[in-house]
Amino acid sequence: MDYKKIKGTNDFFDENSKKFRYVEQNVRKIIESYDFNEIITPIFEGTEVFVRSAGETSDIVNKEMYTFKDKGDTSLTLRPEGTAGVVRSYVENKMYAQPGLKKLYYIGPMFRSEKPQAGRFRQFHQFGIEVFGEGNYLLDAEVIGSAYNIFEALGIKNVKLVINSIGDMESRQNYAKILQEYFQDHLDSLCDDCKKRFLKNPMRILDCKVDKNNPVLINAPKIYDNLTEESKLYFSKLLNALEKLGIDYRVDHNLVRGLDYYTDTVFEYIIEDNSEISGLAICAGGKYADLIRSFGGPDVPGVGYAFGVERIISIMDNQGLFKDNQKTKVTLITLDEESKIYGMSLAKKLRQEFIVNMDYKNNNLKPQFKLSDRSQSDYVIIIGEEERLNNEVTVKNAKTAEQNKIKVDQIISYIKGE
Ligand code: HAM
Repeated sequence: MDYKKIKGTNDFFDENSKKFRYVEQNVRKIIESYDFNEIITPIFEGTEVFVRSAGETSDIVNKEMYTFKDKGDTSLTLRPEGTAGVVRSYVENKMYAQPGLKKLYYIGPMFRSEKPQAGRFRQFHQFGIEVFGEGNYLLDAEVIGSAYNIFEALGIKNVKLVINSIGDMESRQNYAKILQEYFQDHLDSLCDDCKKRFLKNPMRILDCKVDKNNPVLINAPKIYDNLTEESKLYFSKLLNALEKLGIDYRVDHNLVRGLDYYTDTVFEYIIEDNSEISGLAICAGGKYADLIRSFGGPDVPGVGYAFGVERIISIMDNQGLFKDNQKTKVTLITLDEESKIYGMSLAKKLRQEFIVNMDYKNNNLKPQFKLSDRSQSDYVIIIGEEERLNNEVTVKNAKTAEQNKIKVDQIISYIKGE
């Protein structure tokens, strides 16, 4: 039998695992400079956690969740996104009792049963942040700006911030009625899913992937025209702050996002280049005023975003942004068993500065030089009986072939060129 990975999942090894960790390390460094702390939540939760947050009519809940019953007949779901679990944990652990804002970030696998295609997987990784405790356009701007700073630090070009306001709950409820009146006369031209959405959540029709080019959707009443004065003011202040922070954006009044929990600010960073994932969102998020309360917590809002790590890697590959900034590599060539043991204790010291490989089996030169080539070493250190007895080693520069006898205690500074 052939064992194959599940469609829509990836193995990361060699260069790809390095790229993954490179992105992860940089992102952690930047977000920790904003004083965010990591939160690690379970990969599965009770199904209700996601149904309550993403919304019963969302594509995620309806079509994309990996849901199963455990032996006790409890319905569990592999997390399709990070926000719901983080909110659940915030409320369950009463983190709201701590003073000030709670600023959390997470990185880990998410699971959606989507049709695999470029940039769309069934197991993918999100890096995300959530800030709880305050509803403030300046905080929204700071959150949006932190994603912008991450793209800048990684060197990513051609990302565009697309932003909209879907209003507070009052605006949304009024707008839902207006949309129902409008779509009532056009039901025949909508897909079957949208016919269901019409009754339960008409705003979701605007987000339909099947009907997205249908003129009925394009010409639908815009949410912006139906926002409360308060929501309009909030949005214009946010846009003004983004301009002052030098963050370029485009307002798209049809951007509603596929999750139910958002209120007011919603945004996506879209990649606009010549790659196969051009047009897809690499990061998306928004504000959610009522989610924490709906989990039994206090009436405080949250704001956050998540980006797809695989999509970031793909863009960085396409834009040639992964540089080989690896440590110097050294291979120890040892000519007898005693020299191997000697080499192993020497390697321990060298590894404080360099990446060190050695051969544990062969005493002759040829296979050991092959190992050095294979591991793309910068230096080769040769140790035999004579070297051992004289406290010396032979160091060879693998690129220039220059070779010198060096005292053992000087190897590190010699290789570092000090
Ligand atoms: P989302 O738009 O569903 O939002 O996903 C966020 C990002 O995850 C997307 O922009 C994309 O980069 C990546 N992504 C989503 N699905 C896939 C997939 N199948 N394959 C590869 N990458 C994917 C959320 O998940 C919200 N929880 C974001 C948020 C956080 N809002 C507030 N806080």
